[in-house]
Amino acid sequence: MTHLIQVVCFVQLASIALSVLPDPVNVIIDSNNFDHILRWDPGAGTPMGMNYSVEWCCGEENKWSQVRCLNEKDGRECNLTETFNDTLGEYMARVKAITETQQSGWTETKWFQPVSQSEPVFLN
Ligand SMILES: *[C@@H]1O[C@H](CO)[C@@H](O)[C@H](O)[C@H]1NC(C)=O
Ligand SMILES: *[C@@H]1O[C@H](CO)[C@@H](O)[C@H](O)[C@H]1NC(C)=O
Ligand SMILES: *[C@@H]1O[C@H](CO)[C@@H](O)[C@H](O)[C@H]1NC(C)=O
Repeated sequence: MTHLIQVVCFVQLASIALSVLPDPVNVIIDSNNFDHILRWDPGAGTPMGMNYSVEWCCGEENKWSQVRCLNEKDGRECNLTETFNDTLGEYMARVKAITETQQSGWTETKWFQPVSQSEPVFLN
């Protein structure tokens, strides 16, 4: 019996040491009148005060590049209006939670094309 308890304790410690942060969820591009805002929610169990890293794809170099998020609010949105500046371009973004020692996996958006997916704002 003592032996079994030791095994259980060891398994629990091992899983804490290997734990990573939960992936962000509900990652969407909220686009109105060519104003493109990436929004997300923390994955369940994410500690408060988390930092997030945002990347976008694909410009001329056809690779993921970091976005410096302007107008960041509570670390849960990122203004991609200037990044997705080609209305005919096809883009994706991805976000992960990050601390000095841990990180989550990336959560990606769907493909996004400004000209076909930005909701127009109708003025009266
Ligand atoms: C996003 O950035 C654009 C360009 O800098 C700006 O015009 C727009 O007001 C910003 N949108 C929000 C919701 O902050
Ligand atoms: C669009 O964004 C790219 C990458 O940031 C930049 O090199 C380019 O000058 C921008 N184009 C316009 C028209 O703002
Ligand atoms: C978030 O980033 C800031 C600035 O780099 C840093 O001071 C802070 O410790 C970071 N928070 C976490 C949870 O890593």
